Amino acid sequence: MRGKFITLEGMDGAGKSTHIPDIIKLLESKGVEVTSTREPGGTALGEQLRVLLLNEAMHPETETLLMFAARREHIAKVIEPALARGAWVLSDRFTDATYAYQSGGRGVSATKVIELESWVQADLQPDLTLLFDVPVSVSVERLASARAPDKFERESSEFFTKIRNAYLDRAKNNPNRFRIVNSNQALDDVKLEVKKIILTV
Ligand SMILES: Nc1ncnc2c1ncn2[C@@H]1O[C@H](COP(=O)(O)OP(=O)(O)OP(=O)(O)O)[C@@H](O)[C@H]1O
Ligand SMILES: [Mg+2]
Repeated sequence: MRGKFITLEGMDGAGKSTHIPDIIKLLESKGVEVTSTREPGGTALGEQLRVLLLNEAMHPETETLLMFAARREHIAKVIEPALARGAWVLSDRFTDATYAYQSGGRGVSATKVIELESWVQADLQPDLTLLFDVPVSVSVERLASARAPDKFERESSEFFTKIRNAYLDRAKNNPNRFRIVNSNQALDDVKLEVKKIILTV
């Protein structure tokens, strides 16, 4: 039986990566094989593209094309083979992030993103997307104490407000796939919310 494809989304500092170990443990306790991966990246070539994407200034459409180039590789080498053998794939970001950052944040036309999505993904869509939602001020605060900022994390609050709104729009327009997690709570409360959602899959 084909595995399920779960993606984690939300702006920088929202708390996505924090929950990955618990999600893996929970799924494995149900007897599921889990492939945990991330975007941009997930393959050797994709990780090289990630270094460019997170560090180099570039035209927004170049950024979009490189994201989808890394994604093409990721789908071919990691995501599809895992799903086909029945493993579940947990990806820290996927195409919703391109809609949020490159389209919502940088202004690349959604039509172009849709074209690339159908080219690169055909019918592949996540079965479930957890959107970790926090106010922009909270994500900025969490990042400040977490690590040195990358190219995206150095952006303004206006940029992050666009990202958050674009993500919430994606969730509104894809209600069957999205679950919004209120990540602006104590970590244990967020964990409980995540656990409840994962147990419904
Ligand atoms: N509910 C929470 N309350 C307080 N701090 C939190 C909470 N969730 C996560 N954090 C902290 O916020 C910081 C950012 O979390 P995390 O790295 O998981 O975010 P992220 O969504 O993966 O960000 P990025 O997109 O930049 O990778 C970390 O230092 C983490 O410990
Ligand atoms: Mg992270």
